[in-house]
Amino acid sequence: MYPAPAVVASAYDEQGNADACTLAFATMCSHHPPAVMIAINSTLKRKTLKSILNTKEFCIAFPSVEHMAEVDYLGIESGYNADKLKRINFHHHKAVKVNAPVIDEFKVSLECRVMHIAEVGSHTQITGEIVNVQAEESVLNDMGKIDFTLLGPLGYDDITHSYYEMGGKISDAFKAGLKFR
Ligand SMILES: Cc1cc2nc3c(=O)[nH]c(=O)nc-3n(C[C@H](O)[C@H](O)[C@H](O)COP(=O)(O)O)c2cc1C
Repeated sequence: MYPAPAVVASAYDEQGNADACTLAFATMCSHHPPAVMIAINSTLKRKTLKSILNTKEFCIAFPSVEHMAEVDYLGIESGYNADKLKRINFHHHKAVKVNAPVIDEFKVSLECRVMHIAEVGSHTQITGEIVNVQAEESVLNDMGKIDFTLLGPLGYDDITHSYYEMGGKISDAFKAGLKFR
């Protein structure tokens, strides 16, 4: 399933410290209510998983390509061994609608409340209702919508373990195929 955006999940641990880790396994899974699904390895020790299961709330950030090295670090170091956000000099504040940290340096963040948890093999699959979205004005288009090219999302290929920038727009969806209908 690629290319996929590399996203960053964040949650507070039991002491109220912010945890964050990089995820490739993340996707939309409902329109009504809006919901995302993430999967975090439960056989390896992931601090962010523990924190999300504890608070039942989390945020998902969509990093831009400029933060590639920081995102990679959040995916190779554990919060059990380091204060990762401090190490990369990133800042955070409490989300508006959930008790979870929003990372300031990322331009788009979803605030999520856990709706459903399922064990799927090696991973715990967590569905979160999106209860709020925060976006920097710099990534909004004239209509006030998040613009893919202004965000410049960081793409990840799980086959070769490589990061990519994503290309430009080629067409409007639900229109390009109309000529065949
Ligand atoms: C590009 C990338 C994608 C990753 N995707 C996932 C993922 O989808 N699920 C997962 O459990 N771990 C994933 N990881 C690994 C975690 O981010 C990593 O184990 C991290 O150190 C966990 O940190 P924590 O213990 O502070 O939660 C990914 C790492 C990278 C670099």
